[in-house]
Amino acid sequence: MPLRWKPGPPLPQLLLLLGPLGPLSPRAPVGLAQADAAAELDFSTERPVHLVSPAFLSFTIDANLATDPRFLTFLGSTKLRTLARGLSPAYLRFGGTKTDFLIFDPKKEPTFEERSYWQSQVNRDMCESGSIPSDVEKRLQLEWPFQEQLLLREQYQKKFNNSTYSRSSVDMLYTFANCSGLDLIFGLNALLRTADLQWNSSNAQLLLDYCSSKNYNISWELGNEPNSFRKKAGIFIDGLQLGEDFVKLHKLLAKSTFKTVNLYGPDIGQPRGKTVKMLTSFLKAGGEVIDSVTWHHYYLNGRIATKEDFLNPDVLDTFASSVQKIFQVVEETRPHKKVWLGETSSAYGGGAPLLSNTFAAGFMWLDKLGLSARMGIEVVMRQVLFGAGNYHLVDQNFEPLPDYWLSLLFKKLVGTNVLRASVKGPDSRKLRVYLHCTNINHPRYKEGDLTLYALNLHNVTKRLQLPYHLFDKQVDKYLVKPLGPDGLLSKSVQLNGQTLKMVDDHTLPALTEKPLRPGSTLGLPAFSYGFFVIRNAKPYLRLMRLDKPIGTWLLYLPCTWSIGLAAEPGCFPDWYMLSLFGTGAVLMRGAGCTINDLWDRDYDKKVVRTANRPIAAGDISIFQSFIFLGGQLTLALGVLLCLNYYSIALGAASLLLVITYPLMKRITYWPQLALGLTFNWGALLGWSAIKGSCDPSVCLPLYFSGIMWTLIYDTIYAHQDKSDDALIGLKSTALRFHENTKRWLSGFGVAMLGALSLVGVNSAQTVPYYTALAAVGAHLAHQIYTLDIHRPEDCWDKFTSNRTLGLIVLLGIVLGNLWKEKKTDEAKENPEIGSGHP
Ligand SMILES: *[C@@H]1O[C@H](CO)[C@@H](O)[C@H](O)[C@H]1NC(C)=O
Ligand SMILES: *[C@@H]1O[C@H](CO)[C@@H](O)[C@H](O)[C@H]1NC(C)=O
Ligand SMILES: *[C@@H]1O[C@H](CO)[C@@H](O)[C@H](O)[C@H]1NC(C)=O
Ligand SMILES: *[C@@H]1O[C@H](CO)[C@@H](O)[C@H](O)[C@H]1NC(C)=O
Ligand SMILES: *[C@@H]1O[C@H](CO)[C@@H](O)[C@H](O)[C@H]1NC(C)=O
Ligand SMILES: *[C@@H]1O[C@H](CO)[C@@H](O)[C@H](O)[C@H]1NC(C)=O
Repeated sequence: MPLRWKPGPPLPQLLLLLGPLGPLSPRAPVGLAQADAAAELDFSTERPVHLVSPAFLSFTIDANLATDPRFLTFLGSTKLRTLARGLSPAYLRFGGTKTDFLIFDPKKEPTFEERSYWQSQVNRDMCESGSIPSDVEKRLQLEWPFQEQLLLREQYQKKFNNSTYSRSSVDMLYTFANCSGLDLIFGLNALLRTADLQWNSSNAQLLLDYCSSKNYNISWELGNEPNSFRKKAGIFIDGLQLGEDFVKLHKLLAKSTFKTVNLYGPDIGQPRGKTVKMLTSFLKAGGEVIDSVTWHHYYLNGRIATKEDFLNPDVLDTFASSVQKIFQVVEETRPHKKVWLGETSSAYGGGAPLLSNTFAAGFMWLDKLGLSARMGIEVVMRQVLFGAGNYHLVDQNFEPLPDYWLSLLFKKLVGTNVLRASVKGPDSRKLRVYLHCTNINHPRYKEGDLTLYALNLHNVTKRLQLPYHLFDKQVDKYLVKPLGPDGLLSKSVQLNGQTLKMVDDHTLPALTEKPLRPGSTLGLPAFSYGFFVIRNAKPYLRLMRLDKPIGTWLLYLPCTWSIGLAAEPGCFPDWYMLSLFGTGAVLMRGAGCTINDLWDRDYDKKVVRTANRPIAAGDISIFQSFIFLGGQLTLALGVLLCLNYYSIALGAASLLLVITYPLMKRITYWPQLALGLTFNWGALLGWSAIKGSCDPSVCLPLYFSGIMWTLIYDTIYAHQDKSDDALIGLKSTALRFHENTKRWLSGFGVAMLGALSLVGVNSAQTVPYYTALAAVGAHLAHQIYTLDIHRPEDCWDKFTSNRTLGLIVLLGIVLGNLWKEKKTDEAKENPEIGSGHP
C-alpha cells in the first residue's frame, strides 16, 4: 500500500531522514561511480502495448525437404520430435520456394524409406515410440549432403523442377506436427494455372480431399513469394489475380470439412517497390478471406554476409523500417488485420555459411523477436527448424544449434503481453532491451513477473540497472555465452556457465536460473545475450502508482474542494493557491512513494527474506533514494513556507499521522482509515490557507467526507493486492471486509454524501452543488454496484475513476459558489466574474 503524503511540514522529516546518511557517506563516491557505469533502464508497464500469440515463436520446414520425399523420413526422428516439442505451442509452416513446384499425386507409392518407417510404427502408439530404423537413418544422413548441394544449386540457378509427393509424405508431415504439438500450415502450389492465368485448384482439391478423409486439421497458404514468380517460373501474377485465387481457395475450404480452418497469405517478400504495390492490390482483392497477412524478411544475402554484419546495430535496425512499411500498407487496405512474419531468418540463400548456424546468429534472431513483438507482429516463423541451409535450428545430425537454445529459452520465459523497455543514454543501439510479462506456464513464475531480454553488441561488459522502483526485486538471470575456442562462431552455448545439451533423445536439459542478489545490476559480457526474470514486479498494480498521476490527484482534490469552498461568493477559487497546492501535492506524493518504498524494503528484509541479506549493492540505491527524497522535501518545504503561520502549524500537526501511517498495515485491518486521516489533511489546510484559520462547521464535515471517500477507493485498491498482502501478513480493509465489501462501501458512501450535504448547508451552497452531490451519489452507486473485487483490472479501473468523482465535487463547489452571486445579484454585471481572481 502506498503512502500518499499530504503537503505537510517536511523539515523535521528531512532531518530525521538525513540521519542515516552519516555512516553511508564515506562509501558513497564508490557507489555512485559504479552506478554511473551501469546503463539505467526505463520501463513502461501500465498496459501491454501488444499481445502476441502463444505461438509467437514459430518455425518452418522448407518445402524443399519434399523435393525427394525420401528425406521426409527424417521427420520420424525421436530426437527431432523432442526438440520440436520443446518449442510447442508453435506453428509449423511447410513452405518456401518449392511450394510452387510440388504436385500432390495420390496414386504415388511411398518410397522405400518411408515404407520402412511406417512398418516400424505398426502396432505402436505413433507419438509415444518409434523412430526411423537406424540403418535407414544412417543411409539418408550419408546421402543428405548431396541432396543439400542439389537443393542449393537449384535455388542459386533459380531453375526449379517440379516434384510430386505422395499421401505418405503428407502423413509424415502431419504426424510430425501433431506428435510434436505443432499446428501445421501447408503451402499450396500457386503456379498451377489455367490458360488464362487463373489458379487451377484441381490439385489442391485432391489434397484437401485426402486431408479431410484423414481428419487432418491443417491451415493453408497459397504460393510463396509471389512477387518473384517471374524470376522463378517466368509467369507474372499480379496482386489482384492472386487475391481472387485466395477467394477461390477460401470457397473450396468452406465447402470441405475445413470450414473453420485458417488461411494465411500472401507470403510476400521484403516490402520494396513493386512488392508493396502487389501487396496493396492483393489485400484489396483477397484481404477479406485471410486470417493474417504474412510476409518474409531476411537481413542479408547469405553468400556475402560477414560476421561484422551480424553484429551491426545498423543492420538490425533495417528490420524496423520494413515492419513499418508493411503495417502502413495493411492499415491503408485492411486495418486491424493481424500481421505475421511468415518466414524469416538472418540471411537468404540458405543462410550465411559458418555464421547463420553459430552463436553469432543469435543477436539477429533475438533482436528480431523483440522488435517484432514490440511493433505488433503476432507470430514470427523462423526459417528453418531442420533441413537444407545454414540457418536451421537443428543440424543434420539432429544436434540443436545456438539458436535452438535461444528459442527454447524464449519460449519458456517470455509471455504474450508485450511491454516497453528502453536503455537511457547513448548505449541504446548496441545495448538492446525488450520487456514482456513472464510466461506463467513456467512452473517457477507467476503473474506479476517480468521478463527482460537484452543483447550486448559492445565489445566490453555492460551492466543494466533496473528502474528505481524495482531496484530490490529478486531477479533470475539466464545468460547465454558461446562455448569453446571458436568464440562467437561456436556452435555450442552455455547457460549461466552450464553447457547446454540434450540429456537423451527424449529429454531436454533443465534451463537453470541464476538468482541475483537483490539490488544487483544486470551484467552482460561483451557480445552476449540473456534473459532476466524480475520476480513479483507487479507491472499492472503496484508499479502504477509511481508512473501514474492518479495518486497525486487523490491527494490534491480534497485540497481543491477546501480552497473552492473558501472562495468569496460568486468568485472562482484562488488560482494561486490551487497551483501552490498542486505543486505541493506532486512533491509530497513523490516523496511519499519514496518513503514507502524504503519502509517496505525494510519490512521485506525482516519478514520475507532472511536478515543476513547482503546489502552492498543495495546501499547505492538507498543512498540515492535519500538524496532524491531530500530534494523533494526541500522543495516541498519551500511551498509550505508560502502559507500563513496558522497553516504552517496545521501542516506540522499532521506529522504524527505521516510517520505512523506505514506501520498501520502491520497492526490493524484499518490502515485505510489512517490513510484517509493523512491523505485528506488538505481539506483543512486549503481553507486555512485562504481564510487564515479553519471553520470547524465546514472543515470537519469536509475532512470526514474525504476520509469516507478514501475508505471507499483505497479498499477497492487494496482488493488488487489482497492475496499477496495476506501471504506476507499485511492487513487491509479488503481483507477485513472480504465478501461484505460492497455493504461496507455503501455505508461509507452514504456517510460521505451526508457529510458533504452538511458541508453544503454550513457553507450556504446552492443548486449546482447539490446537483453535483446527486451525480456523486450516482457515480458511487455505479462504482460499488458493478465492482468485481476478484478482478484486479476492474478494481484498478474503479479506483482510478475516483478522480472523476473528485472533479465532480470540485465542479459542484465552484459552480455553486458562482451561483451564489448570480442568485443574489442577478441584474448586476460583475466584470470580476471569470477574471480568475477574487
Ligand atoms: C531437373 O530436371 C532436369 C531434367 O530432367 C535434370 O537434368 C536436373 O538435374 C533436375 N534438377 C534437379 C535440381 O533435380
Ligand atoms: C510444373 O508443372 C506445371 C503443371 O503441370 C507446369 O505448368 C510447369 O511448367 C511445370 N514446371 C516446370 C519447371 O517443369
Ligand atoms: C487443371 O489441372 C488439371 C490437372 O493438371 C487438368 O486436368 C485440368 O484440365 C486443368 N483445368 C483447367 C481449367 O485448366
Ligand atoms: C494428433 O495427436 C493426438 C495425440 O497427440 C491424437 O489423439 C490425435 O488423434 C491426432 N490427430 C490426428 C488427426 O491424427
Ligand atoms: C485446428 O487447428 C487450429 C490451429 O491452427 C485450432 O485453432 C483449431 O481449434 C483446430 N480445430 C480443431 C477442430 O481441432
Ligand atoms: C572496442 O571497440 C572500439 C570501437 O567501438 C575500439 O576502439 C576498441 O579497440 C575495441 N576494444 C577491443 C578490446 O576490441
